Amino acid sequence: MGSPVWFRRISLLKTLYFKGGAKPIAVKISDFDRAAPHGTGNIKAGLNYAMSLHAIVTAHKEGFAENIYLDPATRTKIEETGGANIILTDGQGTLVVPKSDSILPSITRRSLVYVAEHYCGMKIEEREVYLDEIMSGKFTEGGLCGTAAVISPLGSINDHGKEFKFASGMEEMGPVMTKLRETLTGIQIKAVIHMWQPFSLMVLLLFSDSPVVGSL
Ligand SMILES: Cc1ncc(COP(=O)(O)O)c(C=O)c1O
Repeated sequence: MGSPVWFRRISLLKTLYFKGGAKPIAVKISDFDRAAPHGTGNIKAGLNYAMSLHAIVTAHKEGFAENIYLDPATRTKIEETGGANIILTDGQGTLVVPKSDSILPSITRRSLVYVAEHYCGMKIEEREVYLDEIMSGKFTEGGLCGTAAVISPLGSINDHGKEFKFASGMEEMGPVMTKLRETLTGIQIKAVIHMWQPFSLMVLLLFSDSPVVGSL
């Protein structure tokens, strides 16, 4: 007997995030919409996940790790997957972040945008991203981002049989996604120190008598 859908969803997360988390994944463009125009796509509501259950089961059967959902109004712009935001780079120092009212604003994406700009010197473009831009090869690397894996690299995107493979390939995470992921996780484990951090530490020490700092 097949396992229940919710269990399979958790298994997918385990596969994506804990086993081959850094290995590029193949995803497909979904025929379904994750959220309605002016709907609840931008909040963490259970119904958003219900909307993607059938689609994820179908994607798995077809050999894809995830679905990319398009904007529900025109179905020409990319939004996000069922459980992660999308980031892209042109390989020329720009990080492109799809913008839409129906994307859940990921804290990981926000952190990566900060890291890209302030630690890696990248330019940030938060804008509508057309599927055609991706399929015509405008971006060298892409990634799915979320708390669990930080970044799962995109290897290929299949749009109804038409496949686009990122230049970074299907074997390893590309250099830009690797740099972003390592920098963010480095900050999380305190291996990367920003130039302002010693200054902040000094301020903390100066005021360390205060009950607030003392309780940290
Ligand atoms: C629909 C959706 N998008 C994006 C994310 C990633 O968000 P975060 O980085 O806050 O984990 C999640 C995480 O649960 C999600 O469910």
